[in-house]
Amino acid sequence: MSAGDEELFLYENIARTIEDSIANGTLKVGDKLDSVRMLSQKMDVSMSTVYNAYYELEGKGLIESRPRSGYYVRFVPDKELSAPSFTDHKVDVTEITNREFIDEVIQQPVTEEYLELSTAVPAPELLPLKKIKRSIQAAYRSDPTNGIRYEHHRGNPGLRRLISKLALSWERTFHEDDIVITAGCMEALSVSLRAVTKPGDTVVIESPTYYGIFQLLASMDLNVLEIPARPGAGISPERLEEALQQNQVQAVVLIPSFNNPLGSCIPDEAKRQIVEIITKHQVPLIEDDIYGEMFYGEHRPNTCKTYDKEGWVIYCSSFSKTLAPGFRIGWCIPGRFNKEVYYQKYINSLASPTLTQRAMAHFLEKGRYDLHLKRLRKELHIQCLKYSQAIKEYFPEGTRISQPKGGFVLWIELSERINAIELYRAAFEEKISIAPGQIFSTGDQFQNYIRISFGRPYSGKTDQGLKKLGDIIENQ
Ligand SMILES: Cc1ncc(COP(=O)(O)O)c(C=O)c1O
Repeated sequence: MSAGDEELFLYENIARTIEDSIANGTLKVGDKLDSVRMLSQKMDVSMSTVYNAYYELEGKGLIESRPRSGYYVRFVPDKELSAPSFTDHKVDVTEITNREFIDEVIQQPVTEEYLELSTAVPAPELLPLKKIKRSIQAAYRSDPTNGIRYEHHRGNPGLRRLISKLALSWERTFHEDDIVITAGCMEALSVSLRAVTKPGDTVVIESPTYYGIFQLLASMDLNVLEIPARPGAGISPERLEEALQQNQVQAVVLIPSFNNPLGSCIPDEAKRQIVEIITKHQVPLIEDDIYGEMFYGEHRPNTCKTYDKEGWVIYCSSFSKTLAPGFRIGWCIPGRFNKEVYYQKYINSLASPTLTQRAMAHFLEKGRYDLHLKRLRKELHIQCLKYSQAIKEYFPEGTRISQPKGGFVLWIELSERINAIELYRAAFEEKISIAPGQIFSTGDQFQNYIRISFGRPYSGKTDQGLKKLGDIIENQ
């Protein structure tokens, strides 16, 4: 470890200890923290290490410095915000009925003048643009035909090798031929679904879930069975078991870590049980792990694939949320469906673009990904807390907000009198773009919910926009 790394490690540890004390109530709003000098003596670290820790906590809005007085606890996230409510209702197989709302929202052009709160992507200022540029140049120069040839249908072999190493952080290893490169996670989901279903089949999903999954299912004439997901822990293994026992189900599609829009994360033990259940019923589980790397805690959550011994889990992910949505690089680890998924990818798009795959391989090979992820997670967590505080301040009394431990989005429950699609339209008129609850379920239980993305750094424009949005809600 270099001296720089050691310093980083030390101040992060101090910041995390204080943050934990705030979250568990040992430190309360208004409590004064030790002075920088006192804490540096107590912990036997330099004053600059303590300053860095306090600076980070200040950035998250958890503490504030008062001139000539010191540092004070300002905000206790979990204690002050109520999570969205959970109703465990009966579920039936249905056709997909929310296409019209989804089309309305995704077809609206959101230009620069809008406050864009509807897309779950990191803002370009959070991405390592210069390093990506160097990787593109290196990829272009190092390929004798400058990227004009078809790439291997399964994907660039070097990139697949590097992707296989990413799985080490969730306790698995794979061979490069276990992986199929796709055009983003969307194509990964699409080819996986095509590999294991036929029109008229039923697919179990979480409720609420990512609207793109409804679009895919509808395009393949598939029906859904939506299992209600709990705000913190996602769907329970018991409910999944019940659904698989009582219905003819051909596939399950889950976003187990930091579900979009709920932000929930299925605990590792429940993930293990879920894999046991789908394996027993021999029903493939398509696991969308696009947000798995975006955790704010100390450890990356495991995946369902971690526990998959017999190959029933088709793992899907991409670099769209962490590095470069425009590169359109995703991947599948299809397990026992390797041949079928590969074939579907081949007939869907033949191969993925050569140059972006080579650039991505160069970026990963240089060891640039880990450090970038570390920074991005920190920034996102700060943004998450800042957006949450503003919503608490500006939205009407009774508003409930998710407290995600990773990902990019907040799921917000408003008063029952609010119709989210009407709110979406009114906000759009005011050049604020949000995602209404109706696009995340075929049922009507999320009529008064909205999703807000905090992928952009908090700015004056964000502050004014959220305040305006609060006023629009108040007057609906
Ligand atoms: C849960 C989830 N899956 C898949 C996608 C699509 O990802 P990609 O851009 O890699 O195709 C998104 C994009 O928002 C998403 O939120």
